[in-house]
Amino acid sequence: MSKYLVTGGAGFIGSNYIRFLLRKYPEAVVVNLDKLTYAGNLENLKDVENDHRYRFVKGDICDEALVNDLVVEADIVVNFAAESHVDRSIGAPDDFIKTDIFGAFALLEAARKNHIDRFIQISTDEVYGSIDQGSFTEDHPLMPSSPYSASKTGADRIAFSYFVTYGVPVQITRCSNNFGPYHYPEKLIPLFVTNALEDKALPIYGDGKNVRDWIYVEDHCEGIDFVLRNGELGEVYNIGGGNEKTNMEITDYILAKLEKPATLKEFVKDRPGHDQRYSLDCSKLHAMGWGPKHSFEQAMDKTLQWYIDHPDWWKKIKSGEYLDYYKNQYSSASL
Ligand code: NAD
Ligand code: DAU
Repeated sequence: MSKYLVTGGAGFIGSNYIRFLLRKYPEAVVVNLDKLTYAGNLENLKDVENDHRYRFVKGDICDEALVNDLVVEADIVVNFAAESHVDRSIGAPDDFIKTDIFGAFALLEAARKNHIDRFIQISTDEVYGSIDQGSFTEDHPLMPSSPYSASKTGADRIAFSYFVTYGVPVQITRCSNNFGPYHYPEKLIPLFVTNALEDKALPIYGDGKNVRDWIYVEDHCEGIDFVLRNGELGEVYNIGGGNEKTNMEITDYILAKLEKPATLKEFVKDRPGHDQRYSLDCSKLHAMGWGPKHSFEQAMDKTLQWYIDHPDWWKKIKSGEYLDYYKNQYSSASL
């Protein structure tokens, strides 16, 4: 039996990962530790909340005593908990430093003091920084450029140091841009899909030529599981979708699929320090036998349909605290 402590499980990827675990492994027992920040939403896990194998604990990964109590009970720790939105990190970096760095440290300390079988640190491709040509392998120097990615880099390297120094059984994954169900509508794809559904403007930063590599969230969840079962301790694994697109290509795809006019495109002030391009070389994981199962088009179509079918989920978010928060200087579009 595997006892998982999943942190940040009420967020986008964490909730998809918990659903994936409970579906795939009947013997899995999952504790979800989440602070329920603006991004944490228990509605993301409505369908599993009564599963006897699942338990939710509201709390902060920076709370050392609580974290220790939960790590004592776990075999496997998967740390998703983070402040995750680059724009917010530009406006207010404090919580990024606290949660993304100190929170990871608190979890690693608990893992050092108690025996666990595995500690997976969910890092990001943003730790490498931007690359104009070619792709990042796992041993490329790290050059993060936003308070978010710098905080994630801190956690990534602290996790590695706990493997080298203390023998904590750490693995680190660096994934590219996810999309899919339950993606908070402040990020590019869910924001643009939901704005288009409401005939509102799509705020494109700068010239729209920045490139991201997109992966369906279920493929990311499978990638993490693959690393856990097949990867080496102390290793870093890139997990990418192999779908590099400019933001303009993403925008055009959404508008075309939803049969909305190009006049919804609105060019707005660029994100400060906006990374031009992310690109991962995933040959390490591909050579071991992992690859994404969804094509970009299949996954986008499933995602668009999910947002069409779940207006209550995203309308509640967009009409509430999200709207209040998002009156920032980077986007002039109405939400
Ligand atoms: P998200 O913002 O949707 O979810 C983050 C979750 O963490 C929320 O439920 C929130 O309540 C919780 N949380 C925040 N601070 C906490 C704290 N101090 N203690 C406990 N819980 C806390 O983020 P996401 O997009 O699901 O990303 C999850 C992880 O994956 C993050 O570590 C992120 O850096 C990483 N990642 C994301 C992507 C992506 O494209 N979204 C890609 C690569 C890596
Ligand atoms: O690459 C992995 C990272 O992807 C994760 O580590 C982060 O947690 C996640 O938020 C994401 O970061 P990005 O900054 O790449 O994602 P975001 O959806 O915010 O932006 C994607 C691109 O779209 C980026 O070039 C900025 C642009 N953009 C974004 C928004 C929200 C716009 O043009 N307009 C927008 O309104």
